[in-house]
Amino acid sequence: MNVLVIGSGGREHAFGWKISKSKIPNKLFFAPGNAGTENLGINLDIDISNFKQLENSIVRNNINLVLVGPEVPLVFGISDFIHSNKKLEKINVIGPEKFGAMLEGSKSFAKEFMERHNIPTAPYKKFRLKNLNDGLDYLESISPPYVLKANGLAAGKGVLIINELEKAKNSLVEMLKNKKFGSASKEVVIEGFLDGIELSCFVLTDGDSFITLPYAKDYKRIGEGDSGLNTGGMGAISPVPFNDKDFKNKIENKIIKPTIKGLKKDNIDYLGFIFIGLINVKGEPFVIEYNVRMGDPETQVVLPRIKNDFLEILLATANNKLSEIKLDVSPNYAVTIVSVSGGYPESYEKGLDVLGDIDQELVFQAGTLKKNNKIVTNGGRVFSSTALGSSIKIALSKAYKNLKKIKFKGMYFRKDIGFDL
Ligand code: AMP
Ligand code: GLY
Repeated sequence: MNVLVIGSGGREHAFGWKISKSKIPNKLFFAPGNAGTENLGINLDIDISNFKQLENSIVRNNINLVLVGPEVPLVFGISDFIHSNKKLEKINVIGPEKFGAMLEGSKSFAKEFMERHNIPTAPYKKFRLKNLNDGLDYLESISPPYVLKANGLAAGKGVLIINELEKAKNSLVEMLKNKKFGSASKEVVIEGFLDGIELSCFVLTDGDSFITLPYAKDYKRIGEGDSGLNTGGMGAISPVPFNDKDFKNKIENKIIKPTIKGLKKDNIDYLGFIFIGLINVKGEPFVIEYNVRMGDPETQVVLPRIKNDFLEILLATANNKLSEIKLDVSPNYAVTIVSVSGGYPESYEKGLDVLGDIDQELVFQAGTLKKNNKIVTNGGRVFSSTALGSSIKIALSKAYKNLKKIKFKGMYFRKDIGFDL
């Protein structure tokens, strides 16, 4: 079984690590991968946005299963391309087609989907340049904080939460008129502010059945105490202590089941992961956003807790047999701490030498590259150190200890992951 993992982050390294433990014989390929994935399989030097290159590579390497990590190729139709290509007909893809991927690719599509299927979320209105004045009036009619979202993909930067009315109005003008987020902010969703604590829910579906993977919580801000700019994620913890049985039941009945049913009702043939960003508002779950993939760094704490053969789960999904899978999850806590390049999430240097004990089990690599047999930094988020333990404290202390065995100039990580739990 030849498996191709698309992407190059800690999430993709964790996918590969878990698949490499499968009892089903397999050979792993990554496109483009990183220095860590090179220890598990073959990194393909191809441009994943070039579907023709991808087709050639899939054929040449006899790939049987494609697992898509990030959202961009899904939103651009990588699954549709493989499904509709005569040469690739027999290849299984984990990841929805374009239509389903709009749940992440368009905020207004996701809001309309939730409205149609009675899934709890913040009230909203959407605006384009032609009704900018209505948008400005709408802002005047609601109370702060104001939540403005660019409709399209904006690399995690398209959400603004603003306290002052004048600033919110200026931002709406910036987004619609001055294309602050390019074509992603041609349409803007303004929604009500939800006050509560966030958590992430991960569902895998074959279109009919679904399994709910372990819940996780991530830490998005660069600074300690959740301060400063938003990042892709600076750390994560699973399970989430405040997510008790009662709350999980509410999530399953009010959100997960209506989502899966809604997809069917709308004739959206969805096969893949759904990552639901949730917020607990006074004991009730609300959806903040849908993503059509796994989270990064949440994957690095979700997969180590799953005892099942992950490749078996993926094949069951591809063959519409997910109902036969019974998930076996470790009761242990998993935590991951992300180390980043100095300056991230703004500008940072690349190509810095990485020294120390790099190849530790559960230390996943992200922005790394092998150059002349040495490992150098190649991105904002560089390593994601995961550890398991019977308490958050024990897991944290192991994860930090392992991360500190690695060094590169300017390396930064938050020392307070889990501080709020
Ligand atoms: P998103 O890209 O939709 O996940 O939004 C990024 C972050 O903005 C979320 O993780 C939340 O912290 C915050 N956020 C988004 N929508 C809301 C909302 N309606 N109320 C409060 N916070 C929000
Ligand atoms: N950690 C958040 C995400 O993957 O979108």
